[in-house]
Amino acid sequence: MGVRNLRLKAFTFGLTIFVITVTTFLLGYTHKHSIDIWKSDSYFLRFSEKLKRLVNIPIRPCSCDACISESKLSPWFDERFNDTIPTLLTKENNEIPEDVYQWWLKLQKEPKPKPFNETVNRLFETLSGEVDFLEASSYRCRRCAVVGNSGNLKNSGYGIWIDNHDFIFRMNRAATVGYEADVGRRTTHQFIYPESAANLQENATLILIPFKVLDIEWVISALTTGTISRTYAMVPRRIKTSRDKIFVYNPIFMKYVYENWMDRHGKYPSTGIMCIVFALHVCDQVDVYGFGADANGNWHHYFENTTKPSGFRKSGVHDADFQANITENLSSINKINFFTGR
Ligand SMILES: *[C@@H]1O[C@H](CO)[C@@H](O)[C@H](O)[C@H]1NC(C)=O
Ligand SMILES: *[C@@H]1O[C@H](CO)[C@@H](O)[C@H](O)[C@H]1NC(C)=O
Ligand SMILES: *[C@@H]1O[C@H](CO)[C@@H](O)[C@H](O)[C@H]1NC(C)=O
Ligand SMILES: *[C@@H]1O[C@H](CO)[C@@H](O)[C@H](O)[C@H]1NC(C)=O
Ligand SMILES: *[C@@H]1O[C@H](CO)[C@@H](O)[C@H](O)[C@H]1NC(C)=O
Ligand SMILES: *[C@@H]1O[C@H](CO)[C@@H](O)[C@H](O)[C@H]1NC(C)=O
Repeated sequence: MGVRNLRLKAFTFGLTIFVITVTTFLLGYTHKHSIDIWKSDSYFLRFSEKLKRLVNIPIRPCSCDACISESKLSPWFDERFNDTIPTLLTKENNEIPEDVYQWWLKLQKEPKPKPFNETVNRLFETLSGEVDFLEASSYRCRRCAVVGNSGNLKNSGYGIWIDNHDFIFRMNRAATVGYEADVGRRTTHQFIYPESAANLQENATLILIPFKVLDIEWVISALTTGTISRTYAMVPRRIKTSRDKIFVYNPIFMKYVYENWMDRHGKYPSTGIMCIVFALHVCDQVDVYGFGADANGNWHHYFENTTKPSGFRKSGVHDADFQANITENLSSINKINFFTGR
């Protein structure tokens, strides 16, 4: 009786250890992999989707209540949204058509641009360039927060809501330290151009929006020799971001935002609208914070002690009112949730 009892105990103990080990492994695995936007789908998800197709169960594009890519809900949206446009330049997909190239070259005219192809090839000798998005899946709801820099975030208390997203996109000089209660502490992706690179969070993925060939050269320099310290303004000589966490926004996608969404208003689209449309393509649900004026109609940044509008607001480079109409439209058809801080 005693021996049996002992064996049973040993068996139960062994089983418990086994279950704990397996559970820990699985939890660790799913946690690690659900957080990483660039990792491909798990085999399990792919397999179950194939199975569903086989037995003819209708497949939704995502598991949220509503999925952005669902069509036939708004003709206005369907006319503009095109899922086949590449979001990033990659090692394999690094060529841009001549018409895109000619349009792009005029954005910030460079006196003597280096050859585009050569520079991009050099870039991908430096970066890993192996982009693999977290693919859309009917078992997955990719929830993203796009956090602009508007002063309307002040005293909003949005921090905990913002941090509660799978991916958190910020732009330009966005700061979090000291503003956590209103803007959150996490950043998964930061969209910048060389002149706006500041406050880069160590572990955030950097997405460079290039406006000239020099911008691509800057990334190479900032990771290697550190020789470029100035474009039309001072730029950081070095960046801390690791090479496998730097990606380049595709000029093809820039032109798509300009034509399909901005209807060619302004000279080129702002970082803000480029970030929102990007999110529409890689997320299933998009919550937008920190865009537009504050309650008193002021256009400024939450991290500046001024209510004066910042740089581009009145320069004519961007058409802020047209852009506001796009986000209002997107919000009115529930493709984005727009938070105004009031
Ligand atoms: C989407 O973009 C592709 C590539 O530019 C183009 O061939 C296609 O016609 C576009 N689709 C729609 C519906 O506009
Ligand atoms: C880059 O190279 C491709 C293939 O050789 C060529 O078709 C394209 O025109 C080049 N693009 C530029 C911007 O030079
Ligand atoms: C960045 O990641 C490393 C390793 O995962 C971690 O130790 C570090 O605390 C992170 N830094 C920030 C600022 O989150
Ligand atoms: C803004 O003003 C506050 C209080 O006057 C000060 O603590 C803070 O450092 C200032 N911030 C900046 C960015 O100048
Ligand atoms: C927003 O939607 C309205 C009504 O469909 C349309 O008239 C307007 O052109 C849209 N605005 C933009 C910027 O596309
Ligand atoms: C956007 O602008 C159009 C025309 O200027 C207007 O009809 C429409 O109501 C605006 N959209 C929203 C959601 O305010």
